Amino acid sequence: MISSSFDDKSCNTEDFVAALSLAANGVAVVTTNGASGKSGLTVSSMVSVCAEPALMLACVNTSNEFCKMADANQVFALNLLAEDQQDVSNTFAGFGDNPEIDRFTKGEWTTATTGSPILTNALVSLDCALVESREHGTHRVYIGRVLDVSSRKTAPLVYSQRSYVKLA
Ligand SMILES: Cc1cc2nc3c(=O)[nH]c(=O)nc-3n(C[C@H](O)[C@H](O)[C@H](O)COP(=O)(O)O)c2cc1C
Repeated sequence: MISSSFDDKSCNTEDFVAALSLAANGVAVVTTNGASGKSGLTVSSMVSVCAEPALMLACVNTSNEFCKMADANQVFALNLLAEDQQDVSNTFAGFGDNPEIDRFTKGEWTTATTGSPILTNALVSLDCALVESREHGTHRVYIGRVLDVSSRKTAPLVYSQRSYVKLA
């Protein structure tokens, strides 16, 4: 961690969250599976780090069971969702009447090389070996090296101002 004379300074949290809610983000389900168990949640924090080597990043709240499992399994997959997969996003965000259901009963899932669950008709699926996992504030940052990528050329699911929006 780098320290500077700004160490104890940070903008107002509500302003920060409200401002960033105006941005448009793609939506993904990040998954992991292995000896420590299977887990997945909806995220919009995924981004590519670089292409050579192919690296992806995602941020997950430390309170989510995914963190313990992904850290132990050392693998994760990112399933970027298509416009017609809003129901999958809602399920993996824990929305709906029964957040305790097995979320993997929603959508069609297969197993990637690493063992992580891959959504068969995702916009983009990225199977990753964990390179780094580090805690920053309330979240853990996961960086993975992409072993396999597949895609379906269709419209992405987009989230902005706390709702799903259609690309014009
Ligand atoms: C569009 C969208 C994007 C989200 N992005 C993130 C994210 O990047 N990181 C995160 O930790 N949670 C994110 N969440 C919230 C988690 O999906 C949610 O808290 C989690 O699935 C709840 O899981 P639990 O019921 O197992 O605790 C997002 C939710 C939605 C609807």
